Amino acid sequence: MKKVILSGMRPTGRLHLGHWVGTLANWAKLQEEFACFYMVADYHALMSEYKDPRKLRVWGLDNLADWLAWGIDPEKSVIFLQSDVPQHLELFMILSCLTPLGLLYRCPTFKEQLQQLKDKDVNTYAFLGYPALQAADILLYRASAVPVGEDQLPHLEFTRELARKLNAVALKEILPEPQAMLTDFPRLAGLDGRKMSKSYDNAIYLSDDDDTIKKKVMTMFTDQARLRKTDPGNADVCNLFTNYSGFLDISQAEKDKIKEQCSSASRGCTDCKKLLIDGLCALIGPRRSVRDEMLKDQGRLQKILEAGSQKAREAAAQTMAEIKAALKL
Ligand code: TRP
Repeated sequence: MKKVILSGMRPTGRLHLGHWVGTLANWAKLQEEFACFYMVADYHALMSEYKDPRKLRVWGLDNLADWLAWGIDPEKSVIFLQSDVPQHLELFMILSCLTPLGLLYRCPTFKEQLQQLKDKDVNTYAFLGYPALQAADILLYRASAVPVGEDQLPHLEFTRELARKLNAVALKEILPEPQAMLTDFPRLAGLDGRKMSKSYDNAIYLSDDDDTIKKKVMTMFTDQARLRKTDPGNADVCNLFTNYSGFLDISQAEKDKIKEQCSSASRGCTDCKKLLIDGLCALIGPRRSVRDEMLKDQGRLQKILEAGSQKAREAAAQTMAEIKAALKL
């Protein structure tokens, strides 16, 4: 039996390169070795987007098109929609009973998001329970590992705690304690050197066309102490060199040469930006075409989700049946 992996993404906007580097690349790799469940977490998204819930489906299908274009394969992985699997809410309800309010109020992500999502009113009953729903997502499939970024570690700790508590009241080891599986490269810097994020307006989107990529890269921060091409630069503090040279299909020897030319001012930032533009266009272009094709056939995207959700419901129903039997519900 393969180990089960579960992860999810909230459909709250378009996906950018940071999502690929931090999440999708890892998801694609894991599906070769594990039984993977990848979820469009629309109920979690609803917690902050409830004023305009209709766009969740649009973003969900948009994100799904990117997942498929970047190698998430419905033949290998179960790709599903959270709200299509009612057992998430059933388990969420039972776990809620085992969740002390203090734990939720103290959760660092709750405090952070209240601050960050100032334009959305997330001071709600549902949003407070965010980690309990996430625990249900994970435990329902008895996932042994959850590929996530560092910011999600408190939610994993929380999930393990709820698994222990449920096993204790069930008088039976029904739910295994899942481990976080951190990605090697969890954070990509955006155009301005801060973390790439929609809210910082510094992202390169997986849906950006060549022209947009070009314009964005041209605005990218490099070594900020280098004002003129004749000033010597320092590649070690250059956002482009330190964070993006991995996107260039060049050898270490070539990298060393670029570094040397930068510090001797025989090479300008525009030269590096041109290299990066070519690299990114070659990487994103073909996948963007696949994505665009996918989005033209919404029926097919819906079918992929429906088929995945059917499989997810079958797995979820087994766990719920076992839990209900143990609790004599
Ligand atoms: N909270 C996760 C995020 O914001 C999304 C998510 C929801 C998730 N349910 C999950 C991630 C279950 C992993 C497992 O990124």
